[in-house]
Amino acid sequence: MNEDHKPLVTRREFGRTAAAASAAALVGALSVAEWRLIERNDRLRSAMRADVTGANSLEAHAAKRGLLYGAAVDPELLDVEGVAKGHTKDAYTQLVSAQTGILVAENAMKWRALRPALDRFDFALADRMMRFAGLTGKRVRGHNLCWHEALPDWFAGAANKDNGRKLLTDHIRTVAGHFRGQLQSWDVVNEAVEPDDGRADGLRRSPWLELVGPDYIELAFRTAAETDPQAKLTNNDYGIETDKPEEAAKRAQVLALLQRLQARGVPIHAMGVQSHLLAKGQQPGAGLQSFLSEVAGMGLEVYITEMDVDTTGVAGGTRARDAAVAKVYGDYPALVLADQNVKMLLTWGLTSANSWVNSRERRMKRFPDLGWQRPLPFDDDFAPTQAFWALRAALDQVPARV
Ligand code: G3I
Repeated sequence: MNEDHKPLVTRREFGRTAAAASAAALVGALSVAEWRLIERNDRLRSAMRADVTGANSLEAHAAKRGLLYGAAVDPELLDVEGVAKGHTKDAYTQLVSAQTGILVAENAMKWRALRPALDRFDFALADRMMRFAGLTGKRVRGHNLCWHEALPDWFAGAANKDNGRKLLTDHIRTVAGHFRGQLQSWDVVNEAVEPDDGRADGLRRSPWLELVGPDYIELAFRTAAETDPQAKLTNNDYGIETDKPEEAAKRAQVLALLQRLQARGVPIHAMGVQSHLLAKGQQPGAGLQSFLSEVAGMGLEVYITEMDVDTTGVAGGTRARDAAVAKVYGDYPALVLADQNVKMLLTWGLTSANSWVNSRERRMKRFPDLGWQRPLPFDDDFAPTQAFWALRAALDQVPARV
C-alpha cells in the first residue's frame, strides 16, 4: 500500500481476490497459479492504485530540485502519431511522456542504427524520437558518436588505417550536423578506457584506437565541437562507481584521460557516469565522491547517464530483490546528487519489460541462471516498483539547485 495514495482498485475486485486467498488459506496452500494470479493482481492493483503522473512523477520531483530526470527510450515503441493528434492510448508512450524530462535513444543514434551502408545514413528512427521530444517539450541527449560496439556489419571490411580518420569525422559531421542545435549533450566518446587492455594510458584497444591511434578521442571531440557548438560534449563510461580495486583503477584512468584532454585544450564539457549498478556487493562511496569533486574542479559537469540495478547474486524472491534494488535507488542518487555539479540522472529504460538487463543476449550469454529482473522504476506491467518510490524520495531530499 502506498501511503500517499488511496487505493483506486474496485472494492469488488479486491474482495474477490481476498476471498480467494482466505478461502484457499482455509483449505490449504494456494496453487502456484493462484499465487501468481494474486501477485499479478497485486501488481495490476498497484498500477491502478497509485497515480504517479503530473506532480507525482519522477520528472516533476526532479524538476522541483532543479534536476533533470530522464530515460533511454526505443523510438519504435513511441506512438508519435497519437501524441501529434493530441492523445495516445499507448501505455509505453504515456509512461515516457509522464515520467521523463530528458530522453536518450537506447540504440537509434548509434552507428549500427544510423549507417545501413557505408554511403547511406538512415535517421528515421532517431528523427521519430526528436519529433516526440518536440511534441512533449523534452530535452534530448545524443548517444553516441564513437564507440567500439554497435558498429555496422560493413564496418570491419570497409575501415582501415588509411580511411579511419575520415570515416570518423565524416560520421560525426553528418550526424552531429543533422541534430545541430537540438541536443542538450552528446556522448561523443563511449567507454574509451579499459585498464585490462594493458596500455599505460588505460585506453581500450577499440577499433578506433587501432585505426586512428590514441588521438581519435581528441579528433572526435574537436569534430563534434566544430559541428554542433551548442551540445555539451560528454565522455561517457561505466564501471567507475564503486571502490572495488578494478573500478577505482579505471576511475583513475578516466580522470587522467579527462586531464590529458583538458591540458590539450580539447573541447569537452561533461563526464557521463553510466551507473549500471549491482544490488549485491560493495556500493559506491568515497572514491566516487572525490571523483565527482575532481571533475567539478576541472569545470566539467557530471551526468548520471544509464542507471539501472542488477540483482545478480541477491537471494530471495521478487520482494527481496525489489527491496535490494530499491535500496540502491535510494542510496545512490542521494550520494551523487548531493554534489551540485551532477545535473541529471537518467535510467537506462523505464520498465523491466524492455531492459537490456533482461535481454536474451545477456541472459543466455552471461547469466544463464539469472531470472527475469526488475532493474528500473517500473515493472513489466508499467506499475511503479519499490525502486520508483525510493528514487522519488531520494530526489526529494536533494539540495535544491541554485
Ligand atoms: O534490432 C535488432 C533486431 O532486428 C534483431 O532481430 C535482434 C537480434 O539480433 O538484434 C536487434 O538489435 C539489438 C539491439 O540492442 C536492439 O535491440 C542488438 O542485437 C543488441 O546488441 C543491442 O543491444 C544494445 C547494446 O547497448 C549494444 O548496442 C542494448 O539494447 C542497449 O541497452 C545497450 O546499451 C549500452 C549503452 O549503449 C552503452 N552503455 C552500456 C549499455 C548496456 O550495454
